[in-house]
Amino acid sequence: MAIDLETSRSPGFDFPHRTYGRSLMVHADCFHWLRQIPENSIDAVVTDPPYGIREYEAQELAQRQRGKTGIWRIPPSFDGSRRAPLPRFTALDHQERQAVRHFFHEWATILLPKLKPGAHVFVACNTFMSQLVFSSLMDSGLEFRTQIIRLVQTLRGGDRPKLGEQEFPDVCSLPRGSHEPWGLFRKPLPKGMSLRECLRTHGTGGLRRRMDGKPFLDVIPSERTPRRERSIANHPSLKPQSLMRQLVWSALPLGEGIVLDPFMGSGSTIAAAEAVGCRSIGIERHSDYYELAGEAVPQLHVLPTRGPTGGLPSHNGQAQLELGSGVPVEPVAHHLAVATGVDGGCDRAAAGG
Ligand SMILES: C[S@@+](CC[C@H](N)C(=O)[O-])C[C@H]1O[C@@H](n2cnc3c(N)ncnc32)[C@H](O)[C@@H]1O
Repeated sequence: MAIDLETSRSPGFDFPHRTYGRSLMVHADCFHWLRQIPENSIDAVVTDPPYGIREYEAQELAQRQRGKTGIWRIPPSFDGSRRAPLPRFTALDHQERQAVRHFFHEWATILLPKLKPGAHVFVACNTFMSQLVFSSLMDSGLEFRTQIIRLVQTLRGGDRPKLGEQEFPDVCSLPRGSHEPWGLFRKPLPKGMSLRECLRTHGTGGLRRRMDGKPFLDVIPSERTPRRERSIANHPSLKPQSLMRQLVWSALPLGEGIVLDPFMGSGSTIAAAEAVGCRSIGIERHSDYYELAGEAVPQLHVLPTRGPTGGLPSHNGQAQLELGSGVPVEPVAHHLAVATGVDGGCDRAAAGG
């Protein structure tokens, strides 16, 4: 049974939700939502989960807002500019690390049957948590494929020893983080099934090549989330459109199917899916962020990107095309159709053709 985004009759619609373009945004706890949807209904997952678990609890978010220290650490100011609070992952004790392990194990156990065989799962992480998170996901039955390295200057590490800055001016506590690891997983292919068969049967199993025909790469030069995107979506973990569009694009090998973000936040994955012309579902538990996504997705998805795009055009949403059905089709898909003579799947599906 498939999730039908067009008719609103699927089980996923029992929760408060809104639709935009070819996307569905749901206000729910993703654990509850996932339990209700049909098996083998999700084609790909692209998500940025709360890997410290505690940082998105109401109490911790309230502390952060009041500028109080909890799990959110206020980093020292740098070059005169104040840095945004960061979750203090190094402060997690053994019990909390066990809680993280349990969280991801349970999440992947619920998710796995809902994925189509061969469906890819992209999970954002950081260098402190990746071993814990990735091993928990593998223990639940997801097949680890590789790590994707997003090259980006982070604000983690590189500090002099706290209160020992004068005494040890030539020391830093940790390397300054210059990358963000994303785990790439897959629901195992049925025993004996080749990739070709999986693509034919389920439309999954591989990754979509870049638009210039080159393979999708496991190192992605990236940028910090641009100010104009942050001014649209004021979420502490907003990811840049220039990155998310590349990931969403590659997640559906034939450009068809549904990309899920079970930890939607302010909707950067959903906006990216809209921008590259794919169907998507985002789930968010926090009511403020769910509302924020509703407002941010329409604005983010039409923004041209200025950072590295991995072969995708940094298109301008104003140049939207209209197909006969009245469904707006982004130039990305149009570009593909022009370049290859083949319609870009998602758009064909959404346009009812
Ligand atoms: C790291 S943030 C994702 C931010 C996103 N990348 C963006 O660009 O806005 C994780 C989000 O997951 C949400 N969340 C945490 N637990 C959840 C759950 N069980 N179900 C749904 N959402 C959850 C948090 O409220 C938070 O907004």
